[in-house]
Amino acid sequence: MSSVRPLFVVAGIGNGTGTGAATARLFAKSGYRVALISRGPEHLNKLAAELNQAGGEVAATFPLKDYTPASIKSAFASLKSHWPSSPLRVALFNAGYGIWKPFLDITEDEVRESIDTNIVAAFAFARAVLLEFTKLELETASEGGAAGDARKRGTLIFTGATAAIRGNTLTSAFAASKFGIRALSQSLAKEFGKQNIHVAHSIIDGNILTDRSKSHRNDASWEANQDARLDPDAIAKSYLHLVKQDSSAWTWEIDLRPAHEKW
Ligand SMILES: NC(=O)c1ccc[n+]([C@@H]2O[C@H](COP(=O)([O-])OP(=O)(O)OC[C@H]3O[C@@H](n4cnc5c(N)ncnc54)[C@H](OP(=O)(O)O)[C@@H]3O)[C@@H](O)[C@H]2O)c1
Repeated sequence: MSSVRPLFVVAGIGNGTGTGAATARLFAKSGYRVALISRGPEHLNKLAAELNQAGGEVAATFPLKDYTPASIKSAFASLKSHWPSSPLRVALFNAGYGIWKPFLDITEDEVRESIDTNIVAAFAFARAVLLEFTKLELETASEGGAAGDARKRGTLIFTGATAAIRGNTLTSAFAASKFGIRALSQSLAKEFGKQNIHVAHSIIDGNILTDRSKSHRNDASWEANQDARLDPDAIAKSYLHLVKQDSSAWTWEIDLRPAHEKW
């Protein structure tokens, strides 16, 4: 393996029990340096310490106060000066503002927050990532990342939701913005595919097992049934699979759901 490890960046770590943290753990194990972007310094530091203890100095934290374009730009500037010679090869936009309310109860602020976190932030993140990817040559196996000789400059993944393809009774503000992310990622896949940049959208069609979903649902049988909920580690494996896909046969979208779905 080359001494310059490729770089994986993720925005959206939460308290370290969801998709963002699980994907960071898997990419750290798979030969990447891991840049962690999140609003919560405490959970960020805890996750970075865990990753560094397990794999040497592989992780660094880039806390931000919010997901405005200015904050995202500044996090990427810090990241580049922290690891000036590590090529950015994989990026995951995982931050999401979920809001489930009857349409007439939704406030203007909630609509704005949904659009700002889910769409405007995704644009800013994608811009920062694509500016880096377009400067790179195709990745080679000697770099040591998962894509190896898959003939890619980089892979950009967006975590979506059922609401990216289907609106429902309480999802007007959430679905409008998750549809937006899907539209963004599909457009980027078309525009940047020609430069061997793989852009993919992931429809998470079910509930992910996280601390937050455990406390919301308070349902021990759901937690215990591995076939009834999405395991963040299993989602991470699908993301790694996307990164490994060869440029002659890649997908711009995956949909993931538990075997025992009810809808
Ligand atoms: N949990 C589910 O059942 C489920 C189902 C379908 C889709 N999804 C999607 O999957 C992605 C990952 O979610 P996850 O549940 O696995 O947890 P997660 O990895 O912890 O990621 C969710 C992230 O959204 C970020 N976020 C940004 N602004 C937020 C706001 N105003 N309010 C709340 N969170 C905000 C948080 O970022 P910070 O790190 O800055 O706190 C948090 O880490 C999200 O995009 C979500 O929409 C989740």
